[in-house]
Amino acid sequence: MAMESPFKADVLKGKVALLTGGGSGIGYEISYQLGLHGASVAIMGRRQNILESAVASLQSHGIPAIGLEGDVRKREDASRIVESTVKHFGKLDILVNAAAGNFLVAAEDLSPNGFRTVMDIDSVGTFTMCHEALKYLKKGGPGKDLSNGGTIINISATLHYTATWYQIHASAAKAAVDSITRSLALEWGTDYDIRVNGIAPGPIGDTAGLNKLAPEEMRSKDGEGMALFKLGEKWDVAMAALYLASDAGKYVNGTTLVVDGGEYLSQPRI
Ligand code: HXC
Repeated sequence: MAMESPFKADVLKGKVALLTGGGSGIGYEISYQLGLHGASVAIMGRRQNILESAVASLQSHGIPAIGLEGDVRKREDASRIVESTVKHFGKLDILVNAAAGNFLVAAEDLSPNGFRTVMDIDSVGTFTMCHEALKYLKKGGPGKDLSNGGTIINISATLHYTATWYQIHASAAKAAVDSITRSLALEWGTDYDIRVNGIAPGPIGDTAGLNKLAPEEMRSKDGEGMALFKLGEKWDVAMAALYLASDAGKYVNGTTLVVDGGEYLSQPRI
């Protein structure tokens, strides 16, 4: 069971967040927790019905929320959605790139277009959103004061720390995301006071990722053999996002925080 938040309820008071993939799964939980801690949230996704129910749910908790339909693979969608967010809420402080695509397939059966599709969503999509949001995230940018810049959180994975069966596309895409995180942290942290970090979730229960990708035994044994002997919760990832987005993380830039209970360190017991 998710615990009560250890963060103060006003830790993101007055902030405006835009989340890709914010209508479901981990992206929705981050939207919800940022909202509960004071942020106004714009969520972007491809499916209008999912967005509508997510926005209704956020609003039912008193969170100022809007849904914006679009695909991170289309630059014009990215641009329109950043502009709409700023038009609606007056500024942009936090960008969370949580949109992702994945499926299990052996490398020899994966078409180059299948590989490219996941690279386009995860890696190019992340870069495109960051690029379109830059002018609003800069210290002193539209709607911003001169005290600090905004922040970006890129949702990654641990797939590529070693090698993961049947996920050559997602592993390559998330490796690129981590590299984007470091490069932007360096350039935009220095030039514009924007902190750029990542979160690499491990196996998180009740997500599309786990349902689509994890072997049944991992779900049914609830993580036996993993370092903390359990699956994570979406809440765990959202708490990491709160830490990174708030002033608690004000000196953290360019890192990807692993939230996996030590799972990627684990080896099967023999
Ligand atoms: C092999 C596949 C495939 C599959 C698609 N392709 N699914 N190849 N096995 N299961 C190939 C297609 O054949 C095609 O190549 C190309 O990929 C594009 O497929 P489309 O269906 O046209 O793409 P699209 O409709 O844009 O859908 C994108 C998608 C889809 C990524 C394929 O699965 C999707 O929309 N997913 C979003 C939701 C999602 O996956 N969430 C889970 C995220 S989990 P050809 O050559 O035939 O044209 C996650 C966690 C990572 O990210 C970390 C885990 C621990």
